Amino acid sequence: HNADKGEFKHYMLKEIYEQPDAVARTIEMALDNNETSKLRDDFLQRYETQLAGIRHVQILACGTSYHSGLVAKYWFESLIRVPCSVEVASEFRYRNPVVVDNCLVICISQSGETADTLSALRDIQKQTPAGLVSLALCNVPTSSLVRETDIFLPTLAGPEIGVASTKAFTTQLAALMLLVLKVGVIQQRVTGERLTTLIGELQQLPGQLYASLNLDAPIKTMSEHFEDKKSCLFLGRGLQFPIALEGALKLKEISYIHAEGYAAGELKHGPLALVDKDMPIVVLAPKDSMFDKLKANMQEVHARHGELFVFASEASQMVAEDRLHVVYVPEVCEVLAPIVYSVPVQLLSYHVAVMRGTDVDQPRNLAKSVTVE
Ligand code: G6P
Repeated sequence: HNADKGEFKHYMLKEIYEQPDAVARTIEMALDNNETSKLRDDFLQRYETQLAGIRHVQILACGTSYHSGLVAKYWFESLIRVPCSVEVASEFRYRNPVVVDNCLVICISQSGETADTLSALRDIQKQTPAGLVSLALCNVPTSSLVRETDIFLPTLAGPEIGVASTKAFTTQLAALMLLVLKVGVIQQRVTGERLTTLIGELQQLPGQLYASLNLDAPIKTMSEHFEDKKSCLFLGRGLQFPIALEGALKLKEISYIHAEGYAAGELKHGPLALVDKDMPIVVLAPKDSMFDKLKANMQEVHARHGELFVFASEASQMVAEDRLHVVYVPEVCEVLAPIVYSVPVQLLSYHVAVMRGTDVDQPRNLAKSVTVE
């Protein structure tokens, strides 16, 4: 494998850097560079009748793929008003869940071989609810998951070798946004100017991801503060809450530092008790509709001597001070911000892990694909 890494020290770093291209390839499935007012005619064209009938979305996934599902829930509900539930497959399959009629079941999986995700899908298929449509959002076209579902929506990330998922995650997010738009267009839930704006913003995404790679050096510097830490909090609100969960998962997986992702509004219901001068708190703070509330949450933490590491947009006018570190992330619209803000949390966990000397691409006790229960 060594030669494939090229100039990079680890697969994970190479895969982080591949994200602008991987996302560009993925969005090209539905977008034509010269066309800003509509999706490509051939995108999921064969499934239009099936997608026209769905009234509810159930997303099933594990690990990092589960976190992309959480973002998609916000998109399905806030952008096109289609109710959406998301659950880890390992719980869903054992609790005899209700699957409503006319449900689109989306299984998200990099490998398409995760045992729990496959079993959850098979259980639903056995129940045969009316109007069921199943979709695999998957990076491996030849996988079991793709064979066993009605619709295959690929992530065009290319092979992912690092156990910690990076480019599969951001391409899942991009593809999920395309799917939300497709369902929205078919069901006339997103039209006209709103559609044109979202398409225009998606076309800017690869450039914004590329610009976010410039954060590598400042984040490496930032990571020095984490080397001897025992525990860490990641905070976000709204669309950034799933990215806080993903940031915490990445740090746990590869640096072995205990980390928790939290919805910042829940701080006062527990984690505030943990905050002291030894607790780094990473905050995802774009200047969006939740920013003012998030800022109040940051002040609560700062007042209790927590050390803040904030990923913010320049527009937020956050400035570094004592126990407050700020890295500016490239400007991006609110809806797509979770995709761009994934990059700094990936880079942070990567650099912390390298500094601590762990096996970044093959962390202890973990497997790339969990094909047993
Ligand atoms: C394992 C991997 C994770 C991955 C998860 C789900 O735990 O280490 O990186 O997110 O499985 O895998 P899948 O292939 O279903 O996305």
